[in-house]
Amino acid sequence: MIKNNLWKRILFGYIAIVLFMLAMSFYLIFRLNYLNKVTDSIMRADIPFVEKGEKLMDSLLEQIRNEKKYIITNDNAFLDLFGQKKREFQERLKYLEESVTNREKETLINQIKELHKKYLFMISKEIILAGKEEIISPDARYEDEKKMILDRLTESINKLILTTQAELIKKIGLFQEIGYKATKISLVIILFAVLFGAFFAYFFTRSICAPVRILKDATERIAHGDLDYRIEVTSNDEIGTLGTAFNQMCNKLKEMDQMKTDFVSNISHNLKTPLTVIREANDLLLEKIAGPISGSQEKLLNITREEAIRLTIMINDLLDISRIEAGLMRYNFQYSDIQDIVRKSADEIRFLAESKHIHVQWTSGDFMQNILLDRDKIAQVMDNLLSNAIKFTPSGGSITITLSEVDSENVPHYFAEQNRLNNIHSFVRVSISDTGIGIPVECHKMIFDKFQQVNNKGKGGMRGTGLGLSIAKHIVLDHGGDIWLENNNEKGSTFHFTLPFRYDYS
Ligand SMILES: Nc1ncnc2c1ncn2[C@@H]1O[C@H](COP(=O)(O)OP(=O)(O)O)[C@@H](O)[C@H]1O
Ligand SMILES: [Mg+2]
Repeated sequence: MIKNNLWKRILFGYIAIVLFMLAMSFYLIFRLNYLNKVTDSIMRADIPFVEKGEKLMDSLLEQIRNEKKYIITNDNAFLDLFGQKKREFQERLKYLEESVTNREKETLINQIKELHKKYLFMISKEIILAGKEEIISPDARYEDEKKMILDRLTESINKLILTTQAELIKKIGLFQEIGYKATKISLVIILFAVLFGAFFAYFFTRSICAPVRILKDATERIAHGDLDYRIEVTSNDEIGTLGTAFNQMCNKLKEMDQMKTDFVSNISHNLKTPLTVIREANDLLLEKIAGPISGSQEKLLNITREEAIRLTIMINDLLDISRIEAGLMRYNFQYSDIQDIVRKSADEIRFLAESKHIHVQWTSGDFMQNILLDRDKIAQVMDNLLSNAIKFTPSGGSITITLSEVDSENVPHYFAEQNRLNNIHSFVRVSISDTGIGIPVECHKMIFDKFQQVNNKGKGGMRGTGLGLSIAKHIVLDHGGDIWLENNNEKGSTFHFTLPFRYDYS
């Protein structure tokens, strides 16, 4: 199994980007180098060559001028100047010959050399004669030939200069072309690098974010108690390993949850019998069957009796919740009068409420029809909601129980699934409103989870297991109803629960 996929993917992505960058840099360096070479050859060879060529022409013209002046004036200074320019010409020509790079120019230089020699040869006679102060008779043929040689000489020099200039222009053109090409190719490489980088970043981020989102959702579901949820692991990389580890953790959690449930259920079961014995013994003592007891003993026995009852209620709650979780809650559905159940529950707690100076009142519609329910379980829901209302309402407050019929379109959905309510026409809604301490809105859903209690400390120090509402929720949902609560405008809260009433059989 390849475990380092993710790591390899990152590495591959970065290497590809780096390679793109390197390719571009190398290409640019290579091109710049070439351009440097071209510039170098222009600066070192071509430009000096053109300059020297032009100077060559200058020295030729100077030679001709001084030679003519000497022949006319017979002044030796001109002869010296002529000699000087002749040497200068030869030196420049030699330089050109040495730096020549192609055959065409070489031929031209050789030509220039030959013609110059011819020219020197022709005028050497003239100079000697002029030195002897002899008059030279004008010879038309000689003059024509000399002119022709000089013309050809200047023509060759010009040609040499022009050839070099043409080469120079060509090189500059090449220089420009390379520059353009390099810019274009660099742009293409940059484009590719950017596109690849963007693609890589997108897919890479997605390949990490998508599974992380799945993990986050799964964590949220687990956090909300859905311990059966598992992630589908599709990859072998680190994320896949994380998913597998997550699933293993869920299995462990589920196992531990099961262990806890089993443990609680076992303990509760085992506690039940001794507790019953304790209660019975306590009752026997209180009934003075085992002998007379004093006033203070009776007080103490009454306290133990109450606490034993509380303990029984708690144990019953724990057993109920274990039964619900194990799917073993049994219902005894019968058509019963809901008004009757509600009234009985209200009557039962009236005594307790009055001892706390809480007024219990109730209003109801006329429900002549019976509805299908488990009397004991619905009474249990009522008892729990009413005992909570009394527990969390300060003395002097009031509790109002209302029964009404609501159309299914007007029933909000909290815990019940929509499709379960499909063919129900209307519901009976039982509402228990108190003037107690109320419940923060953000806890409205959460308090129906088991063991959830809003911080009641300092508000009467009420004790409980935090199981009552969770049990009530399950019972109501198993009846096809729903349960929720609202904060009252002024004070306290109202718990509502619904039970299916009329069905649509059409
Ligand atoms: N009528 C009410 N007014 C204010 N708080 C309530 C009321 N009913 C329930 N609660 C809050 O919901 C919590 C859960 O209630 P319940 O499940 O019946 O557990 P218990 O009564 O054992 O604490 C209570 O601890 C309390 O914080
Ligand atoms: Mg309770």
